[in-house]
Amino acid sequence: MGTENNNLPSYLRIAQKIERHILQGKIAKGHKLGSIRQMAKREAVSINTIRSALETLTQSGIINSVPRIGFVVSYQRADADNSPFENFTPDSRLAEPSKRWLTTMVMGNRGSNPHFHMAVPTDSKMFMSFQRQFQQAIMQNLKRETDNSSGFSKLRKILSEQLALRNCHVNAADIQITNGCQHALEHALRVLCKAGDTVAIPVPAFPGYFALLGVLGLKALEIPMSPLGPDPIILEQVMRDNSVKAVILNPNCHNPTGITLSDAYKQQIASWATKYQTPVIEDDINSMLNFVGNPPSLISSYDQQGWCLMVSSISKVLGDTERIGWCCPGRFKTEYMTQFAVSQISSSYFSQQALTRYYLGSLYQNQLRNWRLEIKVATTAVTLRLLEKLGDKIQITQSTGGYALWIKLPDQLSAQQLLERVDLQKIDFLSGELFSLEPRFKQFIRLTIMPPLEEGTLQGVDHLIAAIKQAL
Ligand SMILES: Cc1ncc(COP(=O)(O)O)c(C=O)c1O
Repeated sequence: MGTENNNLPSYLRIAQKIERHILQGKIAKGHKLGSIRQMAKREAVSINTIRSALETLTQSGIINSVPRIGFVVSYQRADADNSPFENFTPDSRLAEPSKRWLTTMVMGNRGSNPHFHMAVPTDSKMFMSFQRQFQQAIMQNLKRETDNSSGFSKLRKILSEQLALRNCHVNAADIQITNGCQHALEHALRVLCKAGDTVAIPVPAFPGYFALLGVLGLKALEIPMSPLGPDPIILEQVMRDNSVKAVILNPNCHNPTGITLSDAYKQQIASWATKYQTPVIEDDINSMLNFVGNPPSLISSYDQQGWCLMVSSISKVLGDTERIGWCCPGRFKTEYMTQFAVSQISSSYFSQQALTRYYLGSLYQNQLRNWRLEIKVATTAVTLRLLEKLGDKIQITQSTGGYALWIKLPDQLSAQQLLERVDLQKIDFLSGELFSLEPRFKQFIRLTIMPPLEEGTLQGVDHLIAAIKQAL
């Protein structure tokens, strides 16, 4: 939209005015616009005129409509500080099984407030529907349909159909059912690497990757991230040099930053994987939690020659109590499935049967849509609260989906100092240090917001805000 023009229809004139304020930085990213009614009063126009103006701005991606919250600015000025991302020169080092991550996340030892845990509540509608299917599967006569160690064939068929809707064409026979995403990843690394090899990982990254590398005696080569994803120049260089045996990428609703790579970048990565024959392990675990539209595309959708191994699971949608994940191992199918058959002679029956029934039933799509909306509402409300109370003292990445917010704390404050100042029964978060092998992210935290958004969530966030303010 150009400069002001009084011959324009009112809605376009108002859209231009709001746009100008946003572009000039008068209304910053993450801020909420006033209510439609207030704006109509202020501009002396009808509510419908304001609605049309906001619709125009939403279509151009400058603002975003968030149910129960209103219109929020999504545009970030090009000159704005992108410092929730750190720049550095990559250098590989041997991973150690991350003791901190294991004791914090896996062995328990965390605060008790479920609003801030990466664990889908068992009273979520989705989990309860899945549980009902489980009960029904158990009540039926057991007809063994799991014909081999690759998993329940009907489930593999549905997964293949779901992937086809995302333009990713994989035969059901080429999908291995696993006990979760971490399990699928472990086998991918075992197939591709041997002890002492190096794996490239853009950071910040899910701490479980480093723990896995540590157990397998592998080195990590960390790659810096920008708001568009892994630094493309460094990523290509690393893939071209053949200095790594694999790259682990989490391209959709990335944990912890919430970034989704563009289709063009995904296509580019797939072409590098083929050209340089560098395998890409594509972790797709969060893609069903994206805030807008259909599940995003995959790097694997563009992979013609099977250099991508896609791994995923139900953990982020239905919870991680039932261990179901999968891997599409591409050209490594024979090695992957053989290795799997050796380590796991058969596979679990009832949970795979229940998942198949749930996917085929009438509730899944609607419940998923509603859940995604709840996540969007909860994370947006928390982002707004933090920005409103702390302003530019903190920086938060723009999430496209998932439960995580990646936050850079004020300069004087480290995540560890903040952890010592808060009551973990009220608020809980992970120190950024867990998201790299190097001490790069001491000043960062990953805050997980688990829907539904309740009073306890906002009280916890207010406690965090008070602790940050006190520390300054
Ligand atoms: C990015 C990412 N990948 C993999 C996993 C492991 O998932 P699963 O529970 O399916 O093993 C997680 C768990 O939090 C994750 O965040």
